[in-house]
Amino acid sequence: MASIIWRVEHFGEIDSTNTWLVARAKEDAPEGLVAYADFQSAGRGRLDRQWESPAGASLLCSILLRPHVEPDDLQLVVACVALSARAALVRLCGVRPMLKWPNDLVVGDAKIAGLLAEIVTGGDGLAVVGGIGVNLTNGGPPDVLATSVLEQSGVTITPVALLDILLDELEIRRPKLDTVEGRAELRDEYHRALATIGQLVRVELLQGAVNGVATSVDGSGRLVLDVDGAMMTLSAGDVVHVRSHGGGAA
Ligand code: BTN
Repeated sequence: MASIIWRVEHFGEIDSTNTWLVARAKEDAPEGLVAYADFQSAGRGRLDRQWESPAGASLLCSILLRPHVEPDDLQLVVACVALSARAALVRLCGVRPMLKWPNDLVVGDAKIAGLLAEIVTGGDGLAVVGGIGVNLTNGGPPDVLATSVLEQSGVTITPVALLDILLDELEIRRPKLDTVEGRAELRDEYHRALATIGQLVRVELLQGAVNGVATSVDGSGRLVLDVDGAMMTLSAGDVVHVRSHGGGAA
């Protein structure tokens, strides 16, 4: 694919950058449209949760992608954005978070960033709005164990500086979504970066909780669990790391 032309819109305050960008995607906005805000009055997290952050304390951004993938590959698109954010943090301040399936970046057990990916179908094929909140100077929502870039590195980085490098990293990974070989490379990078692999996990599903050992991710980024010897593949769910398989607290 030709290199992506990023068009970045900045908002001092907005309800939610994801809500704004989903509306633009429905109007057939091209891939590469990006929204970021200093403050969101109605920021949204996964599973209808709120996402709150004081003004300027986080990178709050959403990125419109139009990869040539099936809706089943959504988790791979999430991985593409999450891995790019991780690489950007390494480059800017030496913080190397691990990924927690399905949508978090963590340092140890503490969340440093979260993603909300939303699919928009119709019009010009499949569109994915990848929203990401990265805690820069503040630990994020009070109800989760969280950390920030400042706490981990002592470095204060601005939202726009992180966004700039994140888009740079995304430019490396995004074309991989369009080919079989590229998707396999992304899947492998994802597998290596996932703290979830090898953990005994509890997965909260709509129909109840499942306990098992996370053994792998498949080619679409779905989590493969060993549940008492039976393999189960999950495309969604809230994951709690219970402990490393084989002992020790996670
Ligand atoms: C989660 O961990 O539950 C996902 C959080 C995603 C938050 C980001 S902040 C920018 C974008 N706009 C939103 O309303 N949500 C995402």
